[in-house]
Amino acid sequence: MSFKLVLVLFLYFLPAISTQDYEDITVIIKGSATEAEIDDNFVCATIDWWPPEKCNYNQCPWGQSSVLNLNLNHTYISKAIKAFKHLRIRVGGSLQDQVTYGVGSLELPCDPFSKMSGGLFGFSEGCLSLSRWDELNLLFLRTGAVVTFGLNALFGRHRVGKGIWRGSWNSSNARDFIEYTISKGYPVDSWEFGNELSGHGVGAKVDSQQYAKDLIILKAMLDELYKNSSSKPLLVAPGGFFDDQQWYAELLEVSGPGVLNALSHHVYNLGAGNDPKIERRIMNPQHLSQFADTFRNVKLTIERHGPWSSAWVGEAGGAYNSGSLLVSNTFLNSFWYLDQLGMASKYNTKVYCRQTLIGGNYGLLDTKTFKPNPDFYSALLWHKLMGKEVLTIDISGSPFLRAYAHCRKDGTGVTLLLINLSESSVFRVWVRNDLNVDLAEGGGIERDSSFMHGLKQTVSWVGAKASDGSQTREEYHLTAKDGRHLSRIMLLNGTPLQLNEDDEIPELSPLLVAVNSPLVLDPVSIAFVVFPSFEARACA
Ligand SMILES: *[C@@H]1O[C@H](CO)[C@@H](O)[C@H](O)[C@H]1NC(C)=O
Ligand SMILES: *[C@@H]1O[C@H](CO)[C@@H](O)[C@H](O)[C@H]1NC(C)=O
Ligand SMILES: *[C@@H]1O[C@H](CO)[C@@H](O)[C@H](O)[C@H]1NC(C)=O
Ligand SMILES: *[C@@H]1O[C@H](CO)[C@@H](O)[C@H](O)[C@H]1NC(C)=O
Repeated sequence: MSFKLVLVLFLYFLPAISTQDYEDITVIIKGSATEAEIDDNFVCATIDWWPPEKCNYNQCPWGQSSVLNLNLNHTYISKAIKAFKHLRIRVGGSLQDQVTYGVGSLELPCDPFSKMSGGLFGFSEGCLSLSRWDELNLLFLRTGAVVTFGLNALFGRHRVGKGIWRGSWNSSNARDFIEYTISKGYPVDSWEFGNELSGHGVGAKVDSQQYAKDLIILKAMLDELYKNSSSKPLLVAPGGFFDDQQWYAELLEVSGPGVLNALSHHVYNLGAGNDPKIERRIMNPQHLSQFADTFRNVKLTIERHGPWSSAWVGEAGGAYNSGSLLVSNTFLNSFWYLDQLGMASKYNTKVYCRQTLIGGNYGLLDTKTFKPNPDFYSALLWHKLMGKEVLTIDISGSPFLRAYAHCRKDGTGVTLLLINLSESSVFRVWVRNDLNVDLAEGGGIERDSSFMHGLKQTVSWVGAKASDGSQTREEYHLTAKDGRHLSRIMLLNGTPLQLNEDDEIPELSPLLVAVNSPLVLDPVSIAFVVFPSFEARACA
C-alpha cells in the first residue's frame, strides 16, 4: 500500500430549508507536503512615529502612541506583548526616513517632530534620544519582543524634484546608533532600510540602483559591526508598495546574493480611512482575493531575481491614513485581517506586521484605553494555533466560505481556519475527516455522491484508523456581540473577550466537540478548528 498521505476533509452541506438548493463544499487538505512555511514570529505589530498632531478626516487618532511618547510602562502594553511569548514588533512608519538618532555629533539638540509646512508629510525631522531608545529596549527585553527597527534611508540625500530624492545615503548616524545598540546588548532581530521610498514612492522615492548600492553598504556595515556578536541581525527592505515589479527586481539583482534577507512590502487594500465602502469590501470575497495577485507577484519576483531572500509584509493596516474609525477597531476587521494572514502565508510570506500594535484607528490595542480590540484576540489565536507549515488546501463551493490550513502549532494534527462571509444562505454543515488512501488515489472529489454519502454515514477518518467517535476536535468560534458586525466586542464561543477583573487577558478556551459531529458556523463568523489526531506527514 502506498502511503501517500492525502487527507481529505469533507464539509458536507445539508439543506436546513428544504426548498433551497444545497451545496456540497469539499475541503481537501494535502498533508503530505508543505506548500509554504512561515516564520516562528510571523505575527508582528508595528509601533509608528506619528506625533499627536497627525490628523486625518478631522480626527487626530494617534494621541500618545508614538515611538517617542508612548507610555511604555502601561501594564496593558506589557501584558499584550507577553501574551504572545515572543511578539515581533516593527518600529517604523512614514516619518521613519526623517528620524535622526541622538548619538555622536547629533546628540543635541534632540527635538521631537513638529508640524512644518513643506516638510515631508508636513513634519520636521524628529530625533530619537538614546535614553528613549534605552526605555524602549527595557520594554522589549522585559516582554520578550522580537525587534525589527526601520532605519532612516533618506539621511544625506536631497530632494531634486517633486517627491524625487537623489544622492547616496549617509550611513554615519545609523552607524553610531547601531554601534550604541550593540554596545548595550540590545537584541535587534532585523534592521529594515527605508519606508515607502520604493517603486512610485509615497512622500519620496529613490532610484532602485542607488537603493541597492546603499543596501550593500549597510550590509557590509552590519557584518563589520556584528562581527564579534553571537547574534546576526537580518537586513530587510524596502518596506514599500509593490507597485512596480521592475523596481523590486532591480533592487534584488543589483544588491546581489546574500545582501537582502527579506523583501518587505505594505498592504492597504481597503481604501482610505473615511471610505464608506470599506465595510462592503471586507465582506466581498472577490475583493479580498484580489490581493493574492500581489502576493503571487512578490513571490515570483523573489524566486526569479533574489531566491536568497524571502517575503515579509512589513506594514499592513487595511485602510490607509490611520485606519477607519468605524471599522478597523471592530469585529468585522478580523475578516480582512485573518484572511490576509492566511493568504500571505500561502504565498510563503514569512512575517506579517499589523499596523499597529497601538496608534491610529487600526491598533490591536485601543490608543486611548490600551485595551485589546477584536483583532488583538484574532492575532493571538492565530499565533497560538496556526503552525509554521502551510498545507495545500483545495476548496470548492461557495466563495463566501474561506479556508486555510496549517499544521497545528505546538501539538499534533492540523488547524483549520474557516471564515464565513455569508450573511444569508442557509446551510447545515457536516464535517467528515477522511484519511483513506484508496479514496485519495482515486481522486476523492470525483467519487460519486452515493459513495460520499456512504462514507458520511459511517465513520470519520482522522488518521490511518477510523475514529470511533470518542475523539474530539477543538473549536474557537468568533462572532460579534449582539450580532452587530461593527461591534467593538468580539465573542469567543459566545463569551465576550475582555480583560478580566484582574485586568488580565482572558484565557482563550476551545469547545471540545466530538470529531464526527456536524460543524456549523454562524453567519458572518470565524472559526479556528483544531483536529489533534489529523495525520499529516508534513506535520510529523
Ligand atoms: C517607567 O519605568 C522605568 C523602569 O521602571 C522608570 O525608570 C521610568 O521612570 C518609568 N517611566 C515613567 C514615565 O513612569
Ligand atoms: C554624514 O553625516 C554626518 C552627520 O551629520 C556629517 O558630519 C558628515 O559630514 C556627513 N557625511 C557626508 C559625506 O556628507
Ligand atoms: C572584534 O574583536 C577583535 C578582537 O577582540 C577586535 O580586534 C575587533 O576590533 C573587534 N571588532 C569589532 C567590530 O568590534
Ligand atoms: C455561513 O453562514 C451562513 C449564513 O447563515 C450559514 O448558513 C452557513 O452554514 C455558514 N457556513 C458554514 C460553513 O458554516
